[in-house]
Order: sequence, then structure tokens, then C-alpha cells
Amino acid sequence: MKTFTIAVIAGDGVGTEVVPQGKRVLERIAKKHGVSFAFQDFDWGAGHFFRWGRMMPAGAIDLLQPCDAIFLGAVGHPEIPDHTTLNGLLLPIRRAFDQYANVRPAYLYPGVESPLARPKGGEIDFVVVRENTEGEYAQVGGFVYHLQPEEIAIQTSVFTRRGIERVVRFAFELAVKRGKKKRVTSITKSNAQGYSMVLWDRTFQEVASQFPDIETESLLVDAAAMNFIRRPESFDVVVGSNLFCDILSDISAIIIGSMGLAPSANLDPQRRFPSMFEPVHGSAPDIAGKGVVNPLASILSAAMMLEHLGMGEAAREIESAVATVLAEGSVRTPDLGGKSSTEEVTSAVVEKLG
Ligand code: NAD
Ligand code: IPM
Ligand code: MN
Repeated sequence: MKTFTIAVIAGDGVGTEVVPQGKRVLERIAKKHGVSFAFQDFDWGAGHFFRWGRMMPAGAIDLLQPCDAIFLGAVGHPEIPDHTTLNGLLLPIRRAFDQYANVRPAYLYPGVESPLARPKGGEIDFVVVRENTEGEYAQVGGFVYHLQPEEIAIQTSVFTRRGIERVVRFAFELAVKRGKKKRVTSITKSNAQGYSMVLWDRTFQEVASQFPDIETESLLVDAAAMNFIRRPESFDVVVGSNLFCDILSDISAIIIGSMGLAPSANLDPQRRFPSMFEPVHGSAPDIAGKGVVNPLASILSAAMMLEHLGMGEAAREIESAVATVLAEGSVRTPDLGGKSSTEEVTSAVVEKLG
């Protein structure tokens, strides 16, 4: 029997509530498909920080490296500055394993109400591909006159032709693979950022010329934010920089009904390193510990992990079990207008898996 080794980092807040639900679904699907998952749980995060003064141990990356994939919950604690928690755990993993394509699907499931009046189930169906290793997140910069009244902060974006080229190519290949609207939208702000975004636009055009069957569109990020609301049905694959697509993928999550429905994959498409699968949402301290967090973003992230591990059929089964539960509408967490608990929603999904 094939065994996949999965590194599990539940992290903080609701991360610790949704990750066990994702594992329940993975255990169920493993039985059905004659594979097994060897979960290696790492209790890294805020608790580790309070005890040891760091979010994960010094050799963390070496411990994760041999795994087939990483399944993560969320990171962030109200009593620790966010730049400490996130630069101590999530972001270094994305960079160390060169997970340069952050794939964030936005699908409006039938039976789920979008806050937008017009789109019906199935009519929003696009994927945000976020550059995930450089750009505005390169962590290049520093303080001058640190903590003095005349303090200066410098934060430099780093855009490389290689970095843009590979993520844009990934987006085009995804549009081909999806075989839907065959449309790639590039997001920039080259009217104001005359170097980095101009290199992005040029590189996008070069890659686009190699995919004559794919229609292209270029939008400025402010107009893109508007068009995610005005015409979400028109998008297929959207590609943009780290920060722009971080922001846009919260819009794409909420127009499909809830942050609790948005999964993501941090991929190293070349498979040199383990890829990482996590919900788009954070540790949600406002609802943590109440047993009401929506587990479906984590469960759908687990499905994306199976797809990456070559178990596409199992991934489809999970997605259709989720779709059935959402279409029936009787078992849902409060973010979707229901009264069910996190566990009850997972149980409903597990039951549909048979
Ligand atoms: P958040 O995504 O945690 O929460 C935003 C809102 O969405 C909250 O009202 C929350 O209750 C709701 N929400 C999120 N996920 C939900 C779910 N599964 N079910 C129901 N409702 C859900 O964003 P935030 O409040 O800006 O950030 C909280 C903390 O998480 C911060 O420390 C932040 O830095 C961190 N964060 C981490 C990640 C990550 O680990 N990938 C992502 C985003 C934010
Ligand atoms: C996300 C999160 C992270 C990001 C934060 C917590 C650093 O918002 O995964 O979308 O900006 O990448
Ligand atoms: Mn985000």
C-alpha cells in the first residue's frame, strides 16, 4: 500500500480546529482508495513561541523537507506581532521550498449565497494564481535610525524576469488544463510603478505570445478589485504579484460566500520540494475556540493536496461531497447562515464520502 508522509502544522487559533477535520476526511478517503497517510504533527506556532521564543525550531525546514506535502492550518496570535509570527513560520516555508505558485480557486457552490446579488451557483469559477516568493514579500530592507524620532523604514520589492516568467507560464498552463474560458488576466499597477510592473507587463506579453489559443486581459489592480465585484463571471485564471493577489484573494473568497470556503495550494510546480496546502483564511481569533469555524476551506485544501499527490479522483470525490452538503443546505456553520458546528459539517462530508 502506498503511504504518503504528510507534515501537519495546525498552527494557531482556528487552525487547530480545522486541521483535525481535514485529517478526518483524508483518513476516510485513504481507506476508500487503498492508500495511507503517515501524519507527522508539528506543534509549531504561538504556543511554541511562548515556550521557546521562536515560532518553529532552528532545523524546522530540514524536518519538513523529506515529507510528500505539508498540511497547514493558520498562523497568528493576538498577543504576538503579526510580522513575528508570519515571518517566523508561514513565509519562510513558502520561500525555502520555492513554492512560487500560490493557487487560490474561487468557485461559487450551488446552494451558497454570494453577497453579490447576481451570480448564481457555478457562475463564479476562477482561480487566482499568486506569485508567492518575491515581489512585495521579498523581505529586503531595514530600519535606519531605528526607534528614534527620525526613523526611516525601507521595504524594497524584488521582481525578477525569472520569477515573473515562471508564475505567468504556470497561469497559462493552468488555463489550458482547466479548458474552460481559456482566459488569463494579468494584474499590475504599471501606471504608477514604472519599473517592476513594466517588467511584469513585458514578461506577460512574451509568455502570452507562446499561448495563441488563450485570450488575455491586463488590468490595473484597482480596476481588478472593482471587476471582481462587477463581473466575477468573466474571470478564468488571474495572475499577479504577491501582495496584489493576497488582497484580491480575500475578495475572491468572500464573493463565493465565505472565507471559510476558500482553499489554497502553495506549489513548487517542479516538485523539487514539498508543496504546502492551507486555507486562505487566518487564525480568526474572533471565533476561535467556539467550535463553529467552517472546516470546508481546510477540507478543500486537503483535496488540492490529493490532486498534487496524483490522486485526482479522490480529490474530485471530496469536492463533490462538499458540493452535495452545500447544495442540501441543512448542515452549515454560522458564516453560511447555519447553526451547525465544525464537527457536524465534517461529519456530513464524511458521510457523503460513503
Ligand atoms: P482571518 O482570515 O483570520 O479572519 C477574517 C474574518 O473571516 C474573521 O471575521 C473570521 O472570523 C472570518 N473567518 C475566517 N476564516 C473563517 C472560517 N473558516 N469560518 C468562518 N469564518 C471565518 O483574518 P484576520 O482577522 O485579518 O487575521 C487574523 C490573524 O490570522 C492575524 O494574525 C493574521 O496575520 C493571521 N493570518 C494568517 C493567515 C495564514 O496563516 N495563512 C492568513 C491570513 C491571516
Ligand atoms: C495569506 C496571508 C499571509 C500572506 C499573511 C498572514 C502573511 O494573508 O496567506 O493570504 O499575506 O501571504
Ligand atoms: Mn491573505
